[in-house]
Amino acid sequence: MEYIIEMREITKVFPGIVANDGINLKVKPGEIHALLGENGAGKSTLMNVLFGLYQPEGGEIHVKGQKVKITDPNVANDLGIGMVHQHFMLVDKFTVTENIILGMEPSQYGKINMAEAIKQVEKISNQYGLKVDPRAKIEDISVGMQQRVEILKTLYRGAEILIFDEPTAVLTPQEIKELIQIMKELVKEGKSIILITHKLKEIMEVCDSVTIIRRGKWIGSLSVSETDEDDLAAKMVGREVTFKVDKQESKPGEKVLEIKDLVVKDHRGINAVDQLSLELFEGEVLGIAGVDGNGQSELIEAIAGLQSVHSGEIKLKGKSIQGNTPRDMYGEGLGHIPEDRHKRGLVLDFTIGENIVLQTYHQPPFSKNGILSYAQIYSHARRLIEEFDVRTPSELTPARALSGGNQQKAIIAREMDRDPALLIAAQPTRGLDVGAIEYIHRRIIEQRDRGRAVLLLSLELDEIMNLSDRIAVIYEGKIVGIVNPKETTEQELGLLMAGSTVKQRR
Ligand SMILES: Nc1ncnc2c1ncn2[C@@H]1O[C@H](COP(=O)(O)OP(=O)(O)OP(=O)(O)O)[C@@H](O)[C@H]1O
Ligand SMILES: [Mg+2]
Repeated sequence: MEYIIEMREITKVFPGIVANDGINLKVKPGEIHALLGENGAGKSTLMNVLFGLYQPEGGEIHVKGQKVKITDPNVANDLGIGMVHQHFMLVDKFTVTENIILGMEPSQYGKINMAEAIKQVEKISNQYGLKVDPRAKIEDISVGMQQRVEILKTLYRGAEILIFDEPTAVLTPQEIKELIQIMKELVKEGKSIILITHKLKEIMEVCDSVTIIRRGKWIGSLSVSETDEDDLAAKMVGREVTFKVDKQESKPGEKVLEIKDLVVKDHRGINAVDQLSLELFEGEVLGIAGVDGNGQSELIEAIAGLQSVHSGEIKLKGKSIQGNTPRDMYGEGLGHIPEDRHKRGLVLDFTIGENIVLQTYHQPPFSKNGILSYAQIYSHARRLIEEFDVRTPSELTPARALSGGNQQKAIIAREMDRDPALLIAAQPTRGLDVGAIEYIHRRIIEQRDRGRAVLLLSLELDEIMNLSDRIAVIYEGKIVGIVNPKETTEQELGLLMAGSTVKQRR
């Protein structure tokens, strides 16, 4: 058997769009096969077809040489296909093991044998180096661990072919390293993997082959050894992509944001932000670098009025923002691209047009004398969709039906178009393809050049290095150093982020 999975000429149509238009995908046993394409190219759709969540209008699927019809995920399971979705499907209040056996409890005279299940889970976890505690509750473990629970779930059901849909988008750099190790372990044990990722570096590092699709069409499949990052980018976007951002020296103006001795408590009452002070000026991008969980989320939520300040002060354009609601903050000139697009960014059941006026629908021209003008709302939406290249059948499409990356582009368009005095951009390019990242980076610099202030949070050090005029390093809720990106290296930044002081380093 040459291929473990063969998808031939798969076609899948949604209202207004052909998401998959005769796509081919051939996966060899024991390989890691990357699926690459722009936001909205049809990657998740193709994998949902393979996992039995969608029925294709055309094409054939062969598993281990046999032609099959995958009518639902149970059939996929029986064929040895497992999928780790980008948005996890775990029950917070349940333990790891309870989540894993959900829907397929091993019964002994009709009763669940929990001890046996825990033993099983432990065994599989050890076999692949997953290091998951079978008794831990989901709400108490990190995102990276939750992802491993999803992996365990597929292995517990006997998966031989694992589909990963953008698994590294939600992980920290350290967790990414560990996941890559786990994937290598999985193929060593005879599994096959299909990996969706926008990070070309990851493809070059772990994958054997790659299939590229563009706007629903199959562009080609090649072996990773015969390509490189530039070539992949060009093939997927259809033009050259530059990975460096062109920018002039910044010309800082007036102070926009002033934070003094800020303390913000986390949900356990511990100081997540601890006596932090920071200043940000017009015309500059200030990057915040730090290992995830050092107070950066609490810091931005406090500025955005989403979390209460315990003590200290935040001033926007010289005015204290104490007690402001998020809506007040928008009125004061704040733009916010949130970390979690589903929790804070979008109402998934609303149309894209409605989502684009989420904070401004009550103002003219969208509303006059308390009456909404849908004509205004939707023509505004059409302009932004065009400008930011949001790939959607129309402005009337519900946000839920957009691909992950295009949901993100819609949020960015909304927040940037209001031209805020202060833009908080938290993981702004998470889930975006390289072409879209290039565009968003350019827009952020344009915003700066117009004299606006940008507070950038990113776990991607090269993004921080590329865009920032100054970099503030956060560690245990405090700013432990401010560095000039031109005078530092990623290594040096890494040391600061790990809490090493300047003195120790010299
Ligand atoms: N359930 C759905 N209903 C309607 N349209 C959909 C649905 N799912 C996907 N689409 C459309 O199909 C196209 C392909 O979407 P898909 O999610 O497969 O893209 P993708 O390649 O995974 O992109 P991304 O990198 O942004 O995740 C998009 O135009 C999207 O709007
Ligand atoms: Mg997708």
